[in-house]
Amino acid sequence: MKHSGNTILITGGGSGIGQALAQRWHDAGNHVIVTGRRRQALDAAIAGRERMSAYVLDVTTASEVEAFARQVVAEHPQLNVLVNNAGVYSAEKIVTRRDLAQAEQMIETNILGPIRMTNALIDHLAAQADAAIVNVSSGLAFVPYPAAPTYSATKAAIHSYTAAIRPLHAGKVEVIEIVPPQVQTELTPGQSNDPNSMPLDAFADEVMALLHAPDTPAEVCVERVRYFREAEAKGQFDEALRMLAQYS
Ligand SMILES: NC(=O)c1ccc[n+]([C@@H]2O[C@H](COP(=O)([O-])OP(=O)(O)OC[C@H]3O[C@@H](n4cnc5c(N)ncnc54)[C@H](OP(=O)(O)O)[C@@H]3O)[C@@H](O)[C@H]2O)c1
Repeated sequence: MKHSGNTILITGGGSGIGQALAQRWHDAGNHVIVTGRRRQALDAAIAGRERMSAYVLDVTTASEVEAFARQVVAEHPQLNVLVNNAGVYSAEKIVTRRDLAQAEQMIETNILGPIRMTNALIDHLAAQADAAIVNVSSGLAFVPYPAAPTYSATKAAIHSYTAAIRPLHAGKVEVIEIVPPQVQTELTPGQSNDPNSMPLDAFADEVMALLHAPDTPAEVCVERVRYFREAEAKGQFDEALRMLAQYS
């Protein structure tokens, strides 16, 4: 992925990982467009920064995604990078019957969102030089968390989708996956102060260093997520799953 001179659209860019990456990309000399549902968070993310723009967009509404894609391409014809970062997390107790509203919201946001955004922008991206799609998965894509089965499944799905489309776009659109470990954001209430989560700045700095290496890796894995990413290959999957089950 090109270091600077991109026009980058990042969903969920008003907070957490999205905001931290958006601001680092902007600092590196890129035009960055952030989207999300909360106007106030978006405005705070771009405050005082020229060459940053913000649009309210709910990725769970198919018609909104289509209309937004037409608008953003018209207003930013140089757009060449899509970052599918928006996501939601809900813990679940699935051993008894329950309301599925939160599970459905995770599937709509974490899987259908990126699929819809990619579909709406792929023709435009494929026509740009140095185009890239960056999808944000999770270490839980590789070892599922029994306390969050639907969330883990959405992240395994986005990993699979990302790997599947990579060869199809080879030579035209670079397809990159960012695999975060547990990071200090408000993905769950209070997590931004959790000492067991990776500090957000350290995570974002490590991601940027990997992204801007001479050859951007197809999967951007910070050191802290390698145990989960490599668990199956190293024969440690059952051990890792048992460890996560203790916290469920
Ligand atoms: N933090 C972690 O431990 C961790 C670990 C692994 C993976 N991840 C992934 O990293 C990504 C970013 O999460 P985060 O940790 O930075 O948490 P976060 O601060 O809560 O960020 C999530 C972002 O997604 C946006 N969003 C949620 N639903 C949306 C929707 N329907 N339409 C548009 N935007 C929506 C939110 O903005 P609005 O509320 O304004 O819409 C928010 O800015 C997610 O995909 C998450 O699954 C995080």
